[in-house]
Amino acid sequence: MDHLLDKAADWIAESRRAVAFSGAGVSAESGIATFRDPGGVWERFDPAEVGTAAGIASLLRSGPARLYGFLREVLDSVLRAEPNGGHRALAALEEIRRLQAVITQNVDDLHQSAGSSKVVELHGNVLRLRCIECGHGEKLDRHSLAARLERAFGGDLGLKAILDRLPRCERCGEFVRLDVVLFGESVQDLDHAYDLAESADLMLVVGTSGTVYPAAELPEVCRQAGGRIIVVNPSENNFARLGGLFLQERSGIALASLAKRVEARVSSEGHA
Ligand code: APR
Repeated sequence: MDHLLDKAADWIAESRRAVAFSGAGVSAESGIATFRDPGGVWERFDPAEVGTAAGIASLLRSGPARLYGFLREVLDSVLRAEPNGGHRALAALEEIRRLQAVITQNVDDLHQSAGSSKVVELHGNVLRLRCIECGHGEKLDRHSLAARLERAFGGDLGLKAILDRLPRCERCGEFVRLDVVLFGESVQDLDHAYDLAESADLMLVVGTSGTVYPAAELPEVCRQAGGRIIVVNPSENNFARLGGLFLQERSGIALASLAKRVEARVSSEGHA
């Protein structure tokens, strides 16, 4: 693994337009369950039921306690989570100008909390509410999100009672929802992500199974445009055969070691 880490660090140190593409595996090291690993979210909850607008609408009527259980479990792990060494390593690479941006499928705000300033969120962010009428976005901190959830579901679970307690838009008074992309909905900031992938000379693909499109197209877009691919994942995935470097390691370990090696290279070249 050492020689692979050295080679990957060489590639990143000499890159000028590198981007990272991250998935749930990066946040796994902050205690947030991934979706498709054994015991993952989609093994315990049905994505058609809790991951689509239609499923959620029908669950609100037929099984609000189950919907609350899903939201509570997923949000509690996000609310407890702190950025880990993998998040911090990506922020450090941006700091020394060896990473232009992080394109993430994660919705947990951990890249931003770790200090990454250019984060393209394809699937939204649980700490943002969006009005279903006027589209107004409202940023929340972790505690106010928990309080809103508790207020909406922490009492009589009759549909009308829940609807009466759901948060409303601070601008137009209509219903608001978590600003996360459900299955069947359009991905956010996709054009920006495509532009970054097309112009990148290197993409660091970390902690994703590469099973959900259109996000999963991005590494191929980068490779087709001549970019180098570095995959970080403890198991083989769809990208390991894209013809780049495959670091079969957990993100927290591999990224921290990569950032340290790149920093050493960049400072010894004297142009940090
Ligand atoms: N370090 C790096 N990678 C890891 C780690 C770790 N510690 N632990 C697990 N992984 C890898 C797994 O091997 C797997 O390849 O993370 C990946 C997690 O895959 P998924 O659970 O499918 O998550 P992701 O690829 O981010 O899913 C994409 O699917 O359900 C939707 O919207 C959801 O954004 C999500 C999208």
